[in-house]
Amino acid sequence: MEYLSKNFINLHEFKKADLIEILSSGEKMKANRNSDRNFLNNKSYILLFDKPSTRTRISFELAITELGGSCIYLDMSTTQLGRGESIKDTAKVLSRYVDGIIIRNSNHQDLIEFSDHSSVPIINALTNESHPCQIMADLMTLKERFGTIDSLNIAWIGDGNNVANTWIQASTLFNFKLNMAIPNEYMPSRAILDIVKKKNSKINISQNIDDVIKDANCIITDTWFSMNDDKDEKSKKIQILNDYQVNSDLFAKAPVDAIFLHCLPAHRGQEVTDSIIDCERSFVYQQAENRLHVQKAILKHCVIN
Ligand code: CP
Ligand code: NVA
Repeated sequence: MEYLSKNFINLHEFKKADLIEILSSGEKMKANRNSDRNFLNNKSYILLFDKPSTRTRISFELAITELGGSCIYLDMSTTQLGRGESIKDTAKVLSRYVDGIIIRNSNHQDLIEFSDHSSVPIINALTNESHPCQIMADLMTLKERFGTIDSLNIAWIGDGNNVANTWIQASTLFNFKLNMAIPNEYMPSRAILDIVKKKNSKINISQNIDDVIKDANCIITDTWFSMNDDKDEKSKKIQILNDYQVNSDLFAKAPVDAIFLHCLPAHRGQEVTDSIIDCERSFVYQQAENRLHVQKAILKHCVIN
């Protein structure tokens, strides 16, 4: 297979076949957690994070360890980057030590600059713009539940944030319908919507929530307050997003077999109620588990031998 890039930064930069191969590799590794135990033998990684994480950090550390590699977690603020050392110098130095760098960064452009100067693969572990590893785990969860991705009708409800952006990027490759209910004030990134326009994906954004969920196989939301958000406008945002809460009334209007996804962490009682996140149609813990399996496949895809 010919790959476009050994980095894993944004989903729309891949060929669909690459992502399908990563998903099936993740499924195989889930079926046999002991497989590929030596795949990353003698390889080492850095996790360079400027924001908190539970799932991403642990699932990457475990994925690398279970594949036989080693990793070092670096809190960006305790490195010289935090004191103003340039991204270029940091990338050039760190990439001489390890075989890959997994970055969680507030500024997507900084991650791009880092990758421009790195001689080893860079994996995006969330930026203000996108969260590709998460959407790969979500796609794997949908495939497990429905046996397909392409024919699904996916509903996004709420903030047009980094996770919403990544669903839009994924819609340029897969044939699922993406119906999004997002208030005008919190639309997804204009740059990402422009990419979609050129790629012919089946995406519709409106403020008509009932319309968005009426044929949904899957209803997805995320926090109304991402780690990057401006905390000053909290009360205004709550007021605007109030009607976009995923609760029992909303779910009752969706098809009876529709499932619920949320990347977590959730703000229970805000974007979603306990009655939905804890119900049998919620797949949030399966989604979180799948981070581990699909990230093993992403690491394998990005490895340079
Ligand atoms: N979903 C996700 O990326 O969670 P963490 O912030 O805990 O890594
Ligand atoms: N949109 C959220 C996702 C957290 C995993 C954030 O950026 O904080």
